[in-house]
Amino acid sequence: MCGIVGALAQRNVTGILLEGLRRLEYRGYDSAGVCLLGDDGQLQLRKSQGKVADLEAKLQQQPSAGHLGIAHTRWATHGVPSDDNAHPHMSGHIALVHNGIIENHQALRSELQDKGYQFSSDTDTEVVVHLIHSLSSEGASLVDVVGKATQILEGAYALAVVSSEEPDVLACARLGSPLVLGVGIEENFIASDPMALRQVTDRFIFLEEGDVAEVRRGGISVRDKQGGEVSRPVHKLDGGHDVADKGRYRHYMQKEIFEQPEVVAATLAGRIGEHSVLPQALGARALEILPKVKQVQIVACGTSYHAGMVARYWLEEWAGVPCSVEVASEIRYRKTVVRPGTLFVTISQSGETADTLAALRQAKELGYLGFMTICNVPNSSLVRESELSLMTEAGPEIGVASTKAFTTQLVALQLFCLALAKTNGLSAEREAELVGALRQLPQLMEAFAGLDKTVQRTSEAFAEKNHALFLGRGVEFPIALEGALKLKEISYIHAEAYPAGELKHGPLALVDGDMPVIVVAPNNDLLEKLKSNLQEVRARGGQLFVFASPEAGFSSEEGMTLIEVPDCPRSLAPILYTVPLQLLSYHVALLKGTDVDQPRNLAKSVTVE
Ligand code: AGP
Repeated sequence: MCGIVGALAQRNVTGILLEGLRRLEYRGYDSAGVCLLGDDGQLQLRKSQGKVADLEAKLQQQPSAGHLGIAHTRWATHGVPSDDNAHPHMSGHIALVHNGIIENHQALRSELQDKGYQFSSDTDTEVVVHLIHSLSSEGASLVDVVGKATQILEGAYALAVVSSEEPDVLACARLGSPLVLGVGIEENFIASDPMALRQVTDRFIFLEEGDVAEVRRGGISVRDKQGGEVSRPVHKLDGGHDVADKGRYRHYMQKEIFEQPEVVAATLAGRIGEHSVLPQALGARALEILPKVKQVQIVACGTSYHAGMVARYWLEEWAGVPCSVEVASEIRYRKTVVRPGTLFVTISQSGETADTLAALRQAKELGYLGFMTICNVPNSSLVRESELSLMTEAGPEIGVASTKAFTTQLVALQLFCLALAKTNGLSAEREAELVGALRQLPQLMEAFAGLDKTVQRTSEAFAEKNHALFLGRGVEFPIALEGALKLKEISYIHAEAYPAGELKHGPLALVDGDMPVIVVAPNNDLLEKLKSNLQEVRARGGQLFVFASPEAGFSSEEGMTLIEVPDCPRSLAPILYTVPLQLLSYHVALLKGTDVDQPRNLAKSVTVE
């Protein structure tokens, strides 16, 4: 998704802007651009379709330098990826970059065209720069004009604006899209994600909804939605992992898969006692809210939605609490009936997903008992706007395909389900058994990641395939869904997942000798039922690839490849069986030669609707 970087310093900021863009590359984009205010007082614009490296090549041919600049990576929404549609956009002495979507862009475009403005792109963003230009007048400061423009704009935006007439000001505004200010010494920065600025500062101001800010070298002033001057706190962020470092791995996704034993340990750290879960880990108000919970509504998108689907099984089985799970883009546009005592839970890696955030904001009007988020990014919008938050502690996830974010979400959700179960009468023995299993998780995760070579060999059978079916039953059905999502998003193989019992109700028609069928088959109460479903596949000549432990009693034979995984406690199976499925999609993507970390058409953090 689009990324913004801006800088105002005594030194030349070209390198800072480019490094910032490189650090945002993982979010997915299709063009990049930069605008610097040169020593001659002119705005110098360089834009390029493609990667940041293409922009750098352009800058080598036509160098640009300055102490004030803005830069952008664009993920196309209005208008195809092209040099013209790339940001920054300019109107006379003004240049700007924008994340988000302007909903009234068509009406504004006509009005501005009537005033004589000519458009050189198909973007919604270009209306903003002409609007700001049209509102500029003798004596009005850039920040005032930007503030005025935000009164007219409808939709979502994070804006960074510069003017050749105010060489010491970087103006910005946000509503519905994240924007942070990076605080330096006699230099200041802005970005859509603090990660873009970690090379220059560790101190950040998180702008709030409706804020407009004026950034100067020696100071920052912020106005809120009502136009009143406000003081926003400066947060110091810890070191954390350096996103630019893949270590010994070829791809971020690969690194993130192998980090899982370590990060699940971080998710558990300080949250379980010897035999019990510590509900206080869910936040100061957890002990007050949890006993009142009669029902749970989980809302999320993509992989995070799959994590929610897994949690439903745990909540109903262990806590006896009814749970509904829905994708955010649906629930936000549906009239819902909220029963008393319902806790609204969002799940998100980024904490900035537009649909999830909108669903949370809308839910606040609907009489829920409380709001909790399971999230990986501290200070993200979802965390700031929820009463309870449980951080997944996965560290930065750069690969667009979610891996460690998913397994740590499952661990955090298991802690939440246990905390709720505890207040609903879960026996101390059962709690100790489940917590004991969680203690083994990091070690078992290591063993499952150790299947890498076996899975790599298996992946060869998929190199020429265009379709695949994933099957699971019960709590493993969402794991099959997640396996299919991983395969489709990074290898571009069309993959579907079904609860195995549904096969004969339609999908069985797809099964022939050319159809690989991947099966998640831990040893549980549904194993025998699952085995019967697999017979239906074998009878049609389908090629089965079964992930199972020795105790499940499968063996490799004609039409069936067994990928043997270690035995594990049943409560951990959904978390652990995810790992070989991640490895499978990774190795298939390598064979297909796709862009593993930045698959086509996708973005890491989907901050537009
Ligand atoms: C999956 O690999 C994707 N990254 C995607 O489905 C993702 O889970 C979804 O966009 C939600 O993102 P979030 O967790 O940051 O809210």
